[in-house]
Amino acid sequence: MGTEQILKEIREFPITTPAEIEEFRLSFLSKKGKVATLFAGMGKLPPEQRADFGKQANEVKQVAQQKFESARDAIEQGKSAFASVRDDISLQAPRQQLGSLHPLTQTLDEIKNVFFRLGFSIAFGPELEDDFHNFSALNFPPEHPARDMQDTFYVRKDDEDPRKDLLLRTHTSPVQIRKMLEQKPPVRSIMPGRVYRNEAVTAKSYFLFHQVEALYVDKNVTFAELKDTLIILAEMIFEKELKYRMRPSFFPFTEPSLEMDIWNPVKNQWLEILGAGMVHPNVLRSVNLDPEEYTGFALGMGIERIAKLRYEIGDIRTFYENDVRFLDQFV
Ligand code: PHE
Repeated sequence: MGTEQILKEIREFPITTPAEIEEFRLSFLSKKGKVATLFAGMGKLPPEQRADFGKQANEVKQVAQQKFESARDAIEQGKSAFASVRDDISLQAPRQQLGSLHPLTQTLDEIKNVFFRLGFSIAFGPELEDDFHNFSALNFPPEHPARDMQDTFYVRKDDEDPRKDLLLRTHTSPVQIRKMLEQKPPVRSIMPGRVYRNEAVTAKSYFLFHQVEALYVDKNVTFAELKDTLIILAEMIFEKELKYRMRPSFFPFTEPSLEMDIWNPVKNQWLEILGAGMVHPNVLRSVNLDPEEYTGFALGMGIERIAKLRYEIGDIRTFYENDVRFLDQFV
């Protein structure tokens, strides 16, 4: 057998398992192997050809030796330099990268936990709403600026009859209306979900975001209970002794209304975290409840806003880009 032929066999010999390394060694490098046979044949050649042949045979031997050694080293290191690892059951499986909950989901989960402990259940409503649930039943006057196309994404806008309007809900408050129409008091629910506003995309605003609403309606629900709930909530989500304040505010669907701020000592400023108030008598009337008999409180907050404060995130857009370098920080 010529040197060219043996070289070809060496190159094509598959080594994927320890057993094949041994087969390779026996076939080429052992005392009776093909390389030794090459050298043995050298004596039969005419003397003038021996030097050339010897050089070629040495090359063959080196190629075989190298292939053998690198296969053996690879096995010893537990790595695979083999063409296929199919048969090597001793190899460790590659590690899978585990995902984690999105920071908005983590923040909502914590808010949910606070309310579950206070005896609230969870309720959902559609993202495509009508004028009644999103505005009218919530005591928005016909000329309220939120009803403007500039602020709200309309799917159907009827200039003659606003009752036929369809829109992407601008807040989670319409779920209050749905819940109260569906269930007699006592009602104690939170309502998380996506909301939409026709806003420019910047570091501070986006055309969609998430809110969570809480509604408690029963006989004799008081402002003191609202205040207490807000303090428990804020202290539980920010996990420390808090400095907070409540400012009088205005929402069409609550009276009186307030906004709550927490103090940020790093930035040396007050930061608004939520809006709240006592359910407006007109709202109770719109769902056929007698305001003389029932009272309630409602509160609503932006989940992005809370998450931005908790994790010190500067740009709201990072929540939606799904860049793993961002998400990895919240494992
Ligand atoms: N719906 C209000 C908003 O979107 C928040 C709110 C909810 C305020 C409930 C008071 C009571 O800003």
